Amino acid sequence: MNKAENQEARQGSGEMFDQIAERYDLLNRLMSLGIDRGWRERTVGKMQEVASTGSPRLLDVATGTGDLALAMAKAYPLATVVGLDPSKGMLSVAEQKRQKASGDERVSFQVGSAEALPFEDESFDGVSISFGIRNVPDRPLGLREMARVLRPGGRLLILELSEPRGGFFGGMAKLHVHHFVPFVGALLSGKKEYRYLQKSIAAFPPAEEFAATIASQGFDMLELIPLTFGTAHLYVAERRAGS
Ligand SMILES: C[S@@+](CC[C@H](N)C(=O)[O-])C[C@H]1O[C@@H](n2cnc3c(N)ncnc32)[C@H](O)[C@@H]1O
Repeated sequence: MNKAENQEARQGSGEMFDQIAERYDLLNRLMSLGIDRGWRERTVGKMQEVASTGSPRLLDVATGTGDLALAMAKAYPLATVVGLDPSKGMLSVAEQKRQKASGDERVSFQVGSAEALPFEDESFDGVSISFGIRNVPDRPLGLREMARVLRPGGRLLILELSEPRGGFFGGMAKLHVHHFVPFVGALLSGKKEYRYLQKSIAAFPPAEEFAATIASQGFDMLELIPLTFGTAHLYVAERRAGS
């Protein structure tokens, strides 16, 4: 990792998110024009095979303000969900939401980072991470940790932003990501943190390349789903037996 990339990793860290935690949800909705809700729903649906029967245990890494963890619990009434994040500020917003959501004593939040998951081997049926893998400095290590805590056959779902594709709509999406997002982010947050977003998206590997990285860390790739002109991708993988 070169010096510039290191700088990006620090910019996406838990400490940075502590500073914007109270405004994160609003910024998120405005910058994605609300589209992120549909992406999350799609992600929740892909957990079905492992979350609908028995007593499934799900882990949402880089849970932030907890939207995906809470949506998983709502969709899968038999599931217990743990949301993990290094930012106490983000988790405090998540906990407020949990208390408002009815019946969500099945969800709990915990401080921790993707590269050192504080859980036993093979203790989860499903692991998700939305808009978080980009912020993990050592991604192969993070992926290996997710493989370790998943049971063989367990499901990994990664939702992540990507550099939009070409064509007219791809071009519009690029304009959005490169100009509108950093402008609105800097304006509304009153800080420069959101400029990191555009740079970190550009620094993230192309989807096929990242899918190969997932496969090299103990997973079988099941699906690679482009969303909204390639503005995001949903990676669906399964923990390989015996790895
Ligand atoms: C863009 S937010 C995404 C939050 C949430 N998953 C969502 O979909 O809105 C990225 C989150 O990654 C967390 N994060 C940063 N470094 C991390 C690490 N090493 N391991 C796990 N999470 C990390 C940040 O604290 C932040 O809450």
